[in-house]
Amino acid sequence: MSARTVKLAVIPGDGIGPEVVAEGLKVLSTVAPAHGLALDTTEYELGAKRWHATGETLPDAVEEELRGQEAILLGAVGDPTVPSGVLERGLLLRLRFSFAHYVNLRPVRLYPGVRTPLAGVAPEDIDMLVVREGTEGPYAGAGGVLRKGTPGEIATQDSVNTRFGVERVVRYAFAKAAERPRKKLTLVHKDNVLTFAGELWQRVVREVGAEYPQVTTDYLHVDAATMFFVTQPERFDVVVTDNLFGDIITDLGAAVAGGIGLASSGNVNPEAEFPSMFEPVHGSAPDIAGQGKADPTATILSVALLLEHLGYAKAAAQVETAVAEDLRARADSGAVRSTSQIGDDIARRVAEQG
Ligand code: NAI
Ligand code: MG
Repeated sequence: MSARTVKLAVIPGDGIGPEVVAEGLKVLSTVAPAHGLALDTTEYELGAKRWHATGETLPDAVEEELRGQEAILLGAVGDPTVPSGVLERGLLLRLRFSFAHYVNLRPVRLYPGVRTPLAGVAPEDIDMLVVREGTEGPYAGAGGVLRKGTPGEIATQDSVNTRFGVERVVRYAFAKAAERPRKKLTLVHKDNVLTFAGELWQRVVREVGAEYPQVTTDYLHVDAATMFFVTQPERFDVVVTDNLFGDIITDLGAAVAGGIGLASSGNVNPEAEFPSMFEPVHGSAPDIAGQGKADPTATILSVALLLEHLGYAKAAAQVETAVAEDLRARADSGAVRSTSQIGDDIARRVAEQG
């Protein structure tokens, strides 16, 4: 097999970011050669340290360099010493917007052996794919403040929903639903109150859905959806939703599927006009940083999403199988392992699959 070289940008970031990214790269470099994949990695120092040193979050020149990469692996950014929002808006959201990451992909799956806080729920009951819109909604940055600091202060934060933006993410979600055994798509919104945006989402789902007669569609208000995530998670297959609702329900998804240490995500530009970015859902966890206590599994599962995006579905499946085996073994042994020991064990299980 002739090797293809993929240019991969690595942003370890802050806190536990570098620790978990090291394990993600360990597994990636173990699985890649057998699939004819060579990696040309470039590390970028972005996050709290750089902001403190230079005041920069994402210099234009770095954004330009990242644009020339094929994919990005990110640990986490954020630190208590940086004002809230600086790195989120200046780095993470800027990359999502600049690189048209209109699909924020968040699988929610309960692996065998993993403990869920839900009683009487089996792994086959929790297997969903949340497709969260990534570039619009209340996160678009529209709005403003008037008379700041006075009793008459006014703050508005508008939700931006374009026909184009809604349609492209809904199309992606239908295509995913059509590929999955259950072929079900649930739109989550709040169309009884957010009537303008909600009606647009409903209409687009109806229209695109007409092209996918094999996919069953369903609708839930976001408040009801949070209830059913807990009481009937088996209702969900593919979920498509707006940026803010998706942010909230996927934390709940992570909680019911075994915790934030396992939740993976991809910020995807499906057309590959720009590099897509893969990262664990969790943040920089300053409370456990530097102690080897972080679970690298979410990052390793994000590497599987990255492989799938790059067209290496078999390699992705190998990584996922190795993670599933490791999770099952954890349930049996109960031994406490360090971040790098977990990475070693998963890499070994990948290697054993040949
Ligand atoms: P967090 O996800 O960093 O931590 C929440 C809790 O989960 C903490 O108790 C932490 O120890 C634990 N935890 C997180 N990841 C873990 C892992 N892999 N293994 C074991 N335990 C883990 O969220 P928090 O505390 O709200 O935010 C900390 C910082 O991270 C903030 O600066 C925040 O802005 C930033 N952040 C960054 C994100 C990103 O880079 N995409 C996403 C979320 C938060
Ligand atoms: Mg979140």
